[in-house]
Amino acid sequence: MKIREHVLISQLTTMRLGAAARYLIEIENEDDLGPAYDFVSAHNLPSYILGDGSNVIGRDEAYEGVVLHNLLTGIEIKSQTADELLVRVATGTSLNALVDYAVNDDWYGIEALAAVPGTVGGAVMQNAGAYGQEMSQVLVGVDAYDINAGEYVHIPVDDMNLCYRHSIFNSAGPDSARGRYFITAAHIRLNRSEIAGELYGSLHEYLVAHGKSDRRAATIRAAVRDIRDNKLPDPRTTPSAGSFFKNITVDEADIPALRQRFEGIPIFLIGSRWEIPSGWLIEQAGLKGALLHGMRVSDKAALILINESAGSYANLSRARAQIATAVKEKFGFDLQQEPEEIT
Ligand code: EPU
Repeated sequence: MKIREHVLISQLTTMRLGAAARYLIEIENEDDLGPAYDFVSAHNLPSYILGDGSNVIGRDEAYEGVVLHNLLTGIEIKSQTADELLVRVATGTSLNALVDYAVNDDWYGIEALAAVPGTVGGAVMQNAGAYGQEMSQVLVGVDAYDINAGEYVHIPVDDMNLCYRHSIFNSAGPDSARGRYFITAAHIRLNRSEIAGELYGSLHEYLVAHGKSDRRAATIRAAVRDIRDNKLPDPRTTPSAGSFFKNITVDEADIPALRQRFEGIPIFLIGSRWEIPSGWLIEQAGLKGALLHGMRVSDKAALILINESAGSYANLSRARAQIATAVKEKFGFDLQQEPEEIT
């Protein structure tokens, strides 16, 4: 366990904003957690668990707390049959490494999550999803350190209330377990079955355009990587936090009225949820490609904000307000921010 002081959050997060954290503790193995949380209580400070920082934003004021940097890595096979593999994955492992581990051995279930930035822990917390797959479909449960009780627990997936970008770990609702656990490992179940049924629209179009008729894990991974490369900025080189807003979820009953009111509005069925792409709303509000207070609304995908020259959270906040107001005025929807903030 290594303790550092006054570490810039801008250097730990891909949006590249944020002042210093008072302390940062590197969690390199599970035994570090007891002493780390003893340190947090001895100093009577708040704490925040950080993975790769690809979906987290720092603020302009210093964080008077302890950031616990999750560096737990490793993939361990728990059981294997001809058509099922169960692995225990330490949550600091990059999701991409897990996807490669699976696809290279022809295991299915997460191939469409190729090139999603961040750690397995971050993906579990917010039930990450892309191109028709999401973590809830492969997750069996997690091992976690209960911070107050100082003991390790196992939480089955059915107790996590996973839905669109939501779990008990990142929500503030009545079922919230926010701040209660440090999730140390995810138990993931992979299989030998190709994606069944209709493919995600742009993935289908890509495969058709490239003359690919199979759904092998490696084919899907390569297609998704290419689609993402052409549309989404690489957070390691271009400061961004992926989708900056969530898509809008609507009730099926409201769809006819919405279609009548807003001609051509795209409304997709994703799993069992009806969704309006916020990128379309932002584009229709005339902001695609705009530079707002140093934040660039990507000209390839309007849901992505790039920190070109914002320099401060205050400027990001101004840009966010301008986008949200434009969408609210034109469509009446309230955009919700997707990345978390360290507060
Ligand atoms: N669209 C526009 N203009 C835009 C962007 C999108 O009109 O500038 C419309 C188009 O109709 C397009 C549709 O939105 O067909 C969907 O676009 P896309 O496939 O790019 O996906 P998205 O809805 O913008 C979501 C996730 C992404 C994920 C993709 C693919 C959220 C907040 N974002 O984006 O996740 O990769 O679907 O599944 O749900 C992330 O969370 O950081 C992320 C990148």
